[in-house]
Amino acid sequence: MDVIAKPASESATEMVQVVLPNDTNPLGFILGGTVMHLIDIAGAIACHRHTRSLLVTAAVDDLEFLHPIKVGDLIILKSRVTCVFNTSLEVQVTVFSEETLTGRRRLTSRAFLTFVGIDRDGHRVKVPPLLVETDAERRVCEEAQGRRAARLRRKSEVLKSEA
Ligand SMILES: CC(C)(COP(=O)(O)OP(=O)(O)OC[C@H]1O[C@@H](n2cnc3c(N)ncnc32)[C@H](O)[C@@H]1OP(=O)(O)O)[C@@H](O)C(=O)NCCC(=O)NCCS
Repeated sequence: MDVIAKPASESATEMVQVVLPNDTNPLGFILGGTVMHLIDIAGAIACHRHTRSLLVTAAVDDLEFLHPIKVGDLIILKSRVTCVFNTSLEVQVTVFSEETLTGRRRLTSRAFLTFVGIDRDGHRVKVPPLLVETDAERRVCEEAQGRRAARLRRKSEVLKSEA
């Protein structure tokens, strides 16, 4: 696995696909579950490009569907690694709709996902550091540290409530 620091720009990914009738509910709006699936894939691709390792999804932060995406529209997903921890990393995925005839774009969802690097035996593997290039990227990574702490607190509360 690569160990040299890499910039987020190297793994940033954009996925575009057309919304087909099979992906939609009776109103002709894309299914929430389909959007969640695409978010997972877009996030995973950026993280794979960063780590070049096997990964599992550990967490998806809360998700809103701000506007419907209609059959015939394009769905655009942009993913970018925001921060790298030790064996895990956070990626942001933003989702847009684009009307094919007008080009009108709207932000429809934004999600933060955490992936964990693993090997074929299921052992955690360290992920390559992120080369932070701008003040804006530094801020984004600092914010990610706060989200990570909140996630791990939530996880430990869930585990406690299960016991
Ligand atoms: C995610 C998973 C690997 C974490 O394993 P674990 O033994 O509970 O966690 P560990 O304490 O070893 O932590 C490993 C890393 O994951 C992070 N992590 C674990 N649970 C997390 C959560 N709920 N949210 C965010 N990060 C989490 C830890 O912070 C740690 O990161 P770090 O090394 O960068 O500090 C494990 O719970 C798992 O395999 N879950 C199922 C994953 C899955 O099936 N996903 C869907 C298909 S890909």
